[in-house]
Amino acid sequence: MKSIFDTHAHYDDPAFDEDRDSLLRSLLSGEVAAIVNQGTDLATCEKSIRFAQQYEGMYAAVGLHPECLTQTSMDEIDTIRRLAAHPKVVAIGEIGLDYYYDVPRPLQKEVFAAQLRLASELDLPVNIHDREAHGDTLDMLRQYRPKGILHCFSGSVEMAQEVVRLGMYIGIGGVVTFKNARKTVEVAAAVPLERIVLETDCPYLSPVPFRGKRNDSSHILYTAQRLAEIRNMTTEAVLEQTKINAETVYQLR
Ligand code: NI
Repeated sequence: MKSIFDTHAHYDDPAFDEDRDSLLRSLLSGEVAAIVNQGTDLATCEKSIRFAQQYEGMYAAVGLHPECLTQTSMDEIDTIRRLAAHPKVVAIGEIGLDYYYDVPRPLQKEVFAAQLRLASELDLPVNIHDREAHGDTLDMLRQYRPKGILHCFSGSVEMAQEVVRLGMYIGIGGVVTFKNARKTVEVAAAVPLERIVLETDCPYLSPVPFRGKRNDSSHILYTAQRLAEIRNMTTEAVLEQTKINAETVYQLR
C-alpha cells in the first residue's frame, strides 16, 4: 500500500550521495506514494526539478531558504519564477525566516516577502521555515495570506490555531516522537487532523527509534504511529487523512 506522502525532504543532501538512486527507487516502489523535495538555493532547486523529472511520485518545491541568502538573492527571484513553470513544481519552498542564524533580518524579510508575492502571482502554495521567528512569521502570514504548509512546526497551540484559521497546514515530523517534544505533542493533539501533513526534513530529524541517524521517507511510519497514539486512532487512518491533506495542499487531487 502506498500510504506515505513526505511533504518536505532534501534528497539533494550529500548524506544521500552514496545510495540516492537505489534508495529513491526502493522507497517509491514501496510504501511511499509521493515526496516533495525542497529547494534551498538555485542549485538545489535545479536538483529538485531533476529528481522530479527522473522519478514518478517525486515533486519539486523551488525557493530560497533564509539560511542561504546573499546580497544577490533578490535578483534570483526571476530565476525562481522561471523554474516554477516546470509542471512538477508544486510549491514555492523552502522559504521563511530563521533568527537562529546570522543572516540579516531585513534581507530575510525582503526575500521572504518577494517569494510570498511570487507564490500568490503563480497561484502556488508555499512551504515555510520558521525558526525562532514566530512573531514575524505570523505577521507575514497575516499580511500576505499564502496557502501552504508551516513546516516542522515549533510554535505554541495558540499559534497553530491561528495558522489554521489563516487557511494553512501544520507540518509534523520526527520531532513529535522525541521525549522532550511536549509542545509539538500538544499541537499534534489540538489541530484538526484535516490540517496536518507529515514530513521528514530528511536527512535530518529522524523519528525515534532512528533519532540521530539519517532520515528517509519510510520513517514517516513512526511519526504517523506516534500521531495515532496521541489522537487515539489507527496509524492507517492517520496516514490516509494526512496523504489526502498533502495532495490537497499541493493541488495534486
Ligand atoms: Ni527543510
